[in-house]
Amino acid sequence: MSDSTLVARDVRMVFGGVVALDGASVEVRPGQVTGLIGRNGSGKSTLFNCLTGFLKPTSGAIELDGRDITGHAPHEVMRSGIARTFQTPRIDFQTTAREAVLCGLYPRVRHGFLASLLGLPHALRAEQAIQERADEVVERMKMTRWATSRIDKLSMGRVRTVEVARAIGADARYILLDEPAAGIGRDELRVLADEIRALADRGIGVLLVEHNFSLIRMLCDTVTVLDTGSVIFRGTPEQARSDARVMQLYLGAAAAEAA
Ligand SMILES: Nc1ncnc2c1ncn2[C@@H]1O[C@H](COP(=O)(O)OP(=O)(O)OP(=O)(O)O)[C@@H](O)[C@H]1O
Ligand SMILES: [Mg+2]
Repeated sequence: MSDSTLVARDVRMVFGGVVALDGASVEVRPGQVTGLIGRNGSGKSTLFNCLTGFLKPTSGAIELDGRDITGHAPHEVMRSGIARTFQTPRIDFQTTAREAVLCGLYPRVRHGFLASLLGLPHALRAEQAIQERADEVVERMKMTRWATSRIDKLSMGRVRTVEVARAIGADARYILLDEPAAGIGRDELRVLADEIRALADRGIGVLLVEHNFSLIRMLCDTVTVLDTGSVIFRGTPEQARSDARVMQLYLGAAAAEAA
């Protein structure tokens, strides 16, 4: 495995008696979209949680650009350039969409608390840069029309768009998206798909959990298939599509037909 990657290596994760991951490995490369697919309960979100410090693997390692980051806390992982979304959005529903994007940007501010209290010029410049960055992301994600709406008034598709916008705004080198398209409408899906591809084209490494195989085919360079906590396939979406086991057993007959 090359140096510039985010890697989960032989990760095992046991919850009481449940083996959620059983020696699973995945590699996320800069400039590529890696799909992570598998049946419900196959361990996809658990692997996300291990990669981002929300869970410490029972055994195995998480490596960022050749450096061992196993067991680092989520905020440390985020600071080292890895952003994520959650399968169930974790957003303050009382804020507006733009405020949510803005909040996602603050962990990156380095001017310090005291400076911001005193309103020192460099703190003001940082604040202005953050406001501009939020507007840029809002525009890029086509959120402008509803950016001042409260999140609890938005459709699930828009809430997911806000989550992805936050991850994009964080300027991360790796972005992990856990089912970002679930419950999202056609138009939002198109914007989202374009943005995911654009992230990779800008050199960001994307890990994408997604059940819709058409989207996987459209976006992914490689795909890793999990089943009961183990990797059963790794290859291109086209190779996955012609793999009878992947198609029939792990995506279901309906998905196989749609693909
Ligand atoms: N905190 C936990 N405590 C106990 N068991 C858990 C925990 N988190 C996950 N599991 C179990 O681990 C297994 C893998 O779950 P995980 O959520 O990673 O699957 P998934 O592939 O993301 O599924 P889905 O497609 O439904 O989102 C499941 O059997 C699940 O019940
Ligand atoms: Mg999941």
